[in-house]
Amino acid sequence: MCGIVGYVGAKDCSEVLVNALTKLEYRGYDSAGIAVFDDGEIRTVKTKGKLDDLRQKLKEVGKPSGHVGIGHTRWATHGEPSDINSHPHSGARVTIVHNGIIENYIELKEFLISKGRVFLSETDTEVVAQLLDYEYDGKPLETIDRVMAELKGSFALGIMFKDFPDRVFAVRRESPLIVGVAEGECFIASDVPAILQYTRDYYLLEHDEIATLTKDGVSFVDERLQPIEKELKTADWDMEAAEKGGYPHFMIKEIHEQPEAIRTTILPRIKDGLPCLDECGITLEELKEFKNITIVACGTAMHAGMVGKYVIEDLARVPVNVDIASEFRYRNPIVGRDDLVIIISQSGETADSLAALRLAKSKGATTLAIVNAKGSSIAREADMLIYTLAGPEIAVASTKAYITQLSVMYLFAFELALAKETLSVAECKRLISALQKMPDAVQYVIENCEEKCKYIATKLVSAESLLYIGRGLDYALSMEGSLKLKEVSYIHSESYAAGELKHGTISLINDEMPVISVATQTDVIPKTISNIVEVKSRGAEIILVCTDACARGLKDGIADYVVEIPHSEELLMPITAVVPLQILAYYTAINRGNDPDKPRNLAKSVTVE
Ligand code: F6R
Repeated sequence: MCGIVGYVGAKDCSEVLVNALTKLEYRGYDSAGIAVFDDGEIRTVKTKGKLDDLRQKLKEVGKPSGHVGIGHTRWATHGEPSDINSHPHSGARVTIVHNGIIENYIELKEFLISKGRVFLSETDTEVVAQLLDYEYDGKPLETIDRVMAELKGSFALGIMFKDFPDRVFAVRRESPLIVGVAEGECFIASDVPAILQYTRDYYLLEHDEIATLTKDGVSFVDERLQPIEKELKTADWDMEAAEKGGYPHFMIKEIHEQPEAIRTTILPRIKDGLPCLDECGITLEELKEFKNITIVACGTAMHAGMVGKYVIEDLARVPVNVDIASEFRYRNPIVGRDDLVIIISQSGETADSLAALRLAKSKGATTLAIVNAKGSSIAREADMLIYTLAGPEIAVASTKAYITQLSVMYLFAFELALAKETLSVAECKRLISALQKMPDAVQYVIENCEEKCKYIATKLVSAESLLYIGRGLDYALSMEGSLKLKEVSYIHSESYAAGELKHGTISLINDEMPVISVATQTDVIPKTISNIVEVKSRGAEIILVCTDACARGLKDGIADYVVEIPHSEELLMPITAVVPLQILAYYTAINRGNDPDKPRNLAKSVTVE
């Protein structure tokens, strides 16, 4: 994810900006740059690559000398990693750095082109820079305010106007931004670690607030340009804690980042209320031709594929086979010219998934990669590519990558169903609108269920074995819940199709085997409840994750603990229902004294067979 920094003070600005950017490296990036007022002019130096490449370039061209500037590490979303697409971006009188996604940048770009503006890069950021320049009337705050009213999407911006060489402006909507303050200097940054080496005092910029930074201090206005007072915060974290944004572990931080991760992943792929995967090389004409789909992946990514199967088959009526990559690659699988093989991978480097991709290609199938890591082997070798835009996932246990894989599966299923004409445009628009609400729904679940899950986790601490049950999408989802729990808590668990229990597995049930049941799909809830009653009557303690609607219909005493999540579009329920399962796994691991970020015997990227 991109990182923003800015500085106004007495120090060597280039030095401060590069130092601060170093502390944001953990967010992941593919290019970097700075812009500094040097003798009244804004001088920009930027390059594809790492901060060492930027340092080298600064040496070659001479670093800008001055005390006011902005800097950026870019994690490409619009346009490939390149010198030209790197930030900062400029209009004639404005230079900016940007984190986030401008949803309506195509319309804005067309408008600006019609006014004679010429663009150098493929980025949405340059559109904002040009728009600021177009609107500029000598009054920075008014200009920023007008431009903000025109922008849709998420953004944090650091802005410099040529006419104001003593100040930096900052604004945000959705994407985070802080303003650090110290004696005679001010900073902006995407995250606290960037400024900790200079100050611990900072303000959190809220939605649509604008900050003006000078060496004498910072002032804030709201979207009506009314001055506001803000509470000064003091970071009491060490550097490592700060990189975790104050969370004790990356796993829980990444769980909390999920609303933003979904938003970032889906926003650029929705145009006029419909899915649009053109930029990924996918066209409706091509999609129409596929007769079968095989999804191949490992672990969590394979579980995202399981949800994908239910959704694609339901909406697009195309048969979907989900395969474990290490099985697929050694089985002489039946795939060929009429087939689409989808490889899902966070790292894009998983050895079995990569081998499966190569095998599918060699058999003539078309391949589509759904990958998080930019430029990874799977991303490079697949015929078509959709990036999940989850940002770097550091905890070994995958959370935000899974939820963005689900988000992409939905977009893909909608697009395929449109191509196959099994879904009307009106119905698709309704589903897309429901998908756009999921970031807020996930946020709601995090805010309202974390305490409950934390409490329930205290009850699981001494369990030796657990069962997850569900039907349909709830079963597909339970697979991920079960994997999450076992990998971080080291408690054995299995996920079972609830209706299959009585064919053998129910013999395991006694009062020492808690059962976690997921019930979000109205048509099968009565059946799942019957299965819950069956295991309850054999002594199992029941933890039920269900919709508020389902909870209202429950008879007292059926479940020992109920985690209610808001009812939304049923097909999309896995996106919200997975969250309590992730949180439950996290706190169970904590209660057992495990480090959830580094579970024993596991590696983040499995590049060996
Ligand atoms: C579990 C987990 C693993 C990965 C699997 C595939 O939390 O992270 O099961 O999902 O190793 O990895 P990628 O997605 O990198 O191919």
